Amino acid sequence: MTHQILLTPGDGIGPEVIDETQRVLGWFSRNRNFAFHTESAPIGGIAYETTGNPAPDETIAKAKKADAVLFGAVGGPQWDKLPFDQKPERGILRLRKDLELFANLRPALCFDALKDASSLKPEIVSGLDILIVRELTGGVYFGEPKETTTLPNGEKRAVDTQVYTTHEIERITRVAFELAGLRSRRVTSAEKSNVMVTGVLWREVVTKIHKEEFPHIELSHVLADNCAMQLVRNPKQYDVIVTDNLFGDVLSDEAAQLTGSIGMLPSASLGAKQANGKQAALYEPIHGSAPDIAGKGVANPIACILSFAMCLRYSFGRVEDAQLVERAVDRVLADGYRTADIMQPGMTKLGTVQMTEAILKALDKLAV
Ligand code: IPM
Ligand code: MG
Repeated sequence: MTHQILLTPGDGIGPEVIDETQRVLGWFSRNRNFAFHTESAPIGGIAYETTGNPAPDETIAKAKKADAVLFGAVGGPQWDKLPFDQKPERGILRLRKDLELFANLRPALCFDALKDASSLKPEIVSGLDILIVRELTGGVYFGEPKETTTLPNGEKRAVDTQVYTTHEIERITRVAFELAGLRSRRVTSAEKSNVMVTGVLWREVVTKIHKEEFPHIELSHVLADNCAMQLVRNPKQYDVIVTDNLFGDVLSDEAAQLTGSIGMLPSASLGAKQANGKQAALYEPIHGSAPDIAGKGVANPIACILSFAMCLRYSFGRVEDAQLVERAVDRVLADGYRTADIMQPGMTKLGTVQMTEAILKALDKLAV
């Protein structure tokens, strides 16, 4: 069976890290009988430049057909002044919405070799392994109305709408509990039920699903602001954190920094499993387009390569191959190789291409 993978490199460092990840795909096809076919399609700023649309219909159609999408990054200062609906970010938001990728898995794992690279004390982050499960197709990102109007006095008024239905909360809650069942069986649900009615509903629905379907998993609730504080105070108290779209966006950046660098963290965005076994899926590094270092060959390819590992695990059921990639990354870090973002005294600094080569060599060694 040939796996169909759509590459959407996008902007900034996106193309660089996707190119390198393709070399890892190549390694699996040569050494692990992994048959795949890739195709590239424009998204984000580059798509806007070439087609006038940051989320071209053709790219969306190809993404729907593919078994998995490997996404680079979108955005850059040259597009800051574009109207809202033409900005590069519409590219990723439309992919998420049109493919109904409601479950966003953002692991924050601190590799042992990097415990000194975090801005927090090593004892706070060493061994850290948490998973943020972010709702990705609802909430304030997509709620209507979403508009700016001009009031009679000439003042402007902008509205975003935070909205959640029972069903939307139920399905993301189930994903979190199921994943927790494979880990240390603890879920923390973060919302603002003290201020927001969506937060009240969120807490009610999570509590109900827990009681009816997952009583063997431990559940706790936390207010999202307190969660942000606890994440820097004592992050290891958490295992799986389930939260809405906006809180998940913020908390996952925070969690990323705990691990040393946002250049390290992968993510998976998954849809519902269809009756025919198909499940829409998109994998992306969470670092974004990093325009300041784009084109310089210094970007850290690890987040994108680890996103491919998540693809092996969740889309293709190749758990051992996924672990092989993760062990290869662990190995190069333990051997002292670093990209600029995680550089430390006494370590060997590598560029994007060289870091990938080190990972490929580690794969060769681990595979024998
Ligand atoms: C992320 C990003 C996106 C988001 C942007 C690029 C639209 O910050 O994936 O976390 O806000 O969801
Ligand atoms: Mg974000």
